[in-house]
Amino acid sequence: MTTDDLDARAAALDAQHAATDLRDRFLLPDGVVYLDGNSLGALPVGVPEAVESAVREQWGRDLIGSWNTHGWWDAPERVGDAVGRLVGAAPGQIVVGDSTSVRLHQSLHAAAALRPDRSVVLTEPGSFPTDQYVIAGVATQVGWRVEHATPAEIGARLGSEVAAVVLSHVDYRTGELLDLPGITAAAHDAGAVVVWDLCHSAGALPVGLDEHDVDLAVGCGYKYLNGGPGAPAYGYVAARHHAAFVNVVPGWNGHAEPFAMAGVYRGAPGIARARIGTPPMLSLLALEAALRAFDGLTIDDVRVRSLSLTRFLRDAVAAVVPEAALVSPEVDRLRGSQVAFRHPDAYGIVQALAARGVVGDFRTPDIVRLGVAAPYLTHADLVTAARTLRDVLDRGEHLNPAWSRRNVVT
Ligand SMILES: Cc1ncc(COP(=O)(O)O)c(C=O)c1O
Repeated sequence: MTTDDLDARAAALDAQHAATDLRDRFLLPDGVVYLDGNSLGALPVGVPEAVESAVREQWGRDLIGSWNTHGWWDAPERVGDAVGRLVGAAPGQIVVGDSTSVRLHQSLHAAAALRPDRSVVLTEPGSFPTDQYVIAGVATQVGWRVEHATPAEIGARLGSEVAAVVLSHVDYRTGELLDLPGITAAAHDAGAVVVWDLCHSAGALPVGLDEHDVDLAVGCGYKYLNGGPGAPAYGYVAARHHAAFVNVVPGWNGHAEPFAMAGVYRGAPGIARARIGTPPMLSLLALEAALRAFDGLTIDDVRVRSLSLTRFLRDAVAAVVPEAALVSPEVDRLRGSQVAFRHPDAYGIVQALAARGVVGDFRTPDIVRLGVAAPYLTHADLVTAARTLRDVLDRGEHLNPAWSRRNVVT
């Protein structure tokens, strides 16, 4: 495929997918191709006004009464229901607040309490560091042994000792999408519960939490949900586990009668039992406004667009930069919403691309990660990205000593 072919194909695909082009629902700088929505989603239209109103009118004018008059108190569950529409959870099973790390810690303790007679947590070795650290930490606290298996090996490693299987739905480096229905069913057959990290799938593809009988799940609000930097995370607890859900952080917000100021904790009924402390209201309201960017669209619509974009980007990178070693699966069923490739100069490539307005990111040791947030990207954007990539390499811009790893934060 030549770059001229790419232009023609992009134009045809953009025409075909015009109904799901939601670019005008986002505020992105002109001239930027933003391929980092799997790290920090773009700013949706309406969020600045929502935050301004939350600060000036709600906090500034209506003060503490806003907990009732502006629905602050119910926001963790209300926004949880809005997230639920994107991950296939019926209302009343998701609570929003705190970080993914905290939600994961809470969910793993709850999983241990659901399977008190079992002693193994099964996970994969390459998951995002916070998952590895939290799993190891909770294992020490509850007396679990951590066992590692690749996703393909999980089925064979399930046994009567396994209390919980903890996995990321989409691999943060390669973008590989795991078989959530199959792994969940196999874990259940072996008597284990599953805890899924949805950071790289929520808002990008269908998850089907209820449909596939998932037990517990967590995820962040700042990637494909576009809730903004440090947006609150969410935790899903299937309704059938509410009564037995043990909250390891029994803060006063999850009490059955929080304003009774009782001296002894008694968990609230329903998902409110998973609440912890006072919710981060400004970020929560920003996330709520951000989720409106999905109005009128189903997650299946998003997935159809995303698959077309990632398929196209994969082909474009392969055509234009044949030396790049693609690591994101070719098969649609196995690919999340990103295209990643390995290159010895990956860090310099990401920096040089960003200097030209094509923003992706680098993951150690050698991965260029191009996130595809379908609502605000077009196939034409991806041609620009692929062409710029070729140009950067041809001109050696990625070898610029200014891209010294010494100055790197991420
Ligand atoms: C798979 C996964 N889990 C968890 C996190 C982050 O957790 P937290 O929201 O606590 O920073 C990330 C962040 O990129 C992630 O990719």
